[in-house]
Amino acid sequence: MTRGALVAIEGLDRTGKSTQTEILIKTLKQQGKAIELIKFPDRTTQIGQLINKYLTDKEFRLSDQSAHLLFSAKRWELVEKINNLLTQGVTVLLDRYVYSGVAYSAAKGLDFQWCLNPDLGLPKPDVVLFLKFKDDGNMKRGGFGEERYEVDEFQKKVKVMFERFDGDNNWRNLYVDGKSIEEVREEVWTHVVKYIDGLDTNVQLFK
Ligand code: TMP
Ligand code: MG
Repeated sequence: MTRGALVAIEGLDRTGKSTQTEILIKTLKQQGKAIELIKFPDRTTQIGQLINKYLTDKEFRLSDQSAHLLFSAKRWELVEKINNLLTQGVTVLLDRYVYSGVAYSAAKGLDFQWCLNPDLGLPKPDVVLFLKFKDDGNMKRGGFGEERYEVDEFQKKVKVMFERFDGDNNWRNLYVDGKSIEEVREEVWTHVVKYIDGLDTNVQLFK
């Protein structure tokens, strides 16, 4: 039996990840494909609630290292679920994942490899769609600036850290500058369609 594909959508804040994941889920469901969305951080579990407090309450203090490990713990909390879904042939769509984990923490000055270490052994996406602005267009979009990391100068640093993953064989840059939701949707689809129809290799792991 073939397994489901592991697809990650990544990007800075306000780049359209959630909009595109919603559209993608709808399209795949209409086609009768089994698909499940997992959003990181999922803020509903106990670890997720702590993360939510950290993101929304700037008075809430945590060392950068412990905040980082919480985000990683959040992923490890769901690894069994992800693996089970893939084995059952379900495509798993991740709205943020390891790449956000490393990029946001390394942007604070933590060592890049140190940030990746707790995530080693997690399933590695078959494809990562990185929604990318050439300029700083995400900072001009509405709704920006309410959470801990939604600060222009910081987003620029995160972008540099994300770009260190560019070159990995699963990494795809999708430029969103000046494009409509529909245009981005088409590009997302062009990439995803190559993976959804049954993979017979084992999922790779971060190493
Ligand atoms: P969201 O905007 O997609 O809900 O994500 C919340 C914030 O958390 C966003 O600014 C990115 C950040 N983040 C991390 O710092 N580390 C992580 O591991 C993840 C998944 C998100
Ligand atoms: Mg956000």
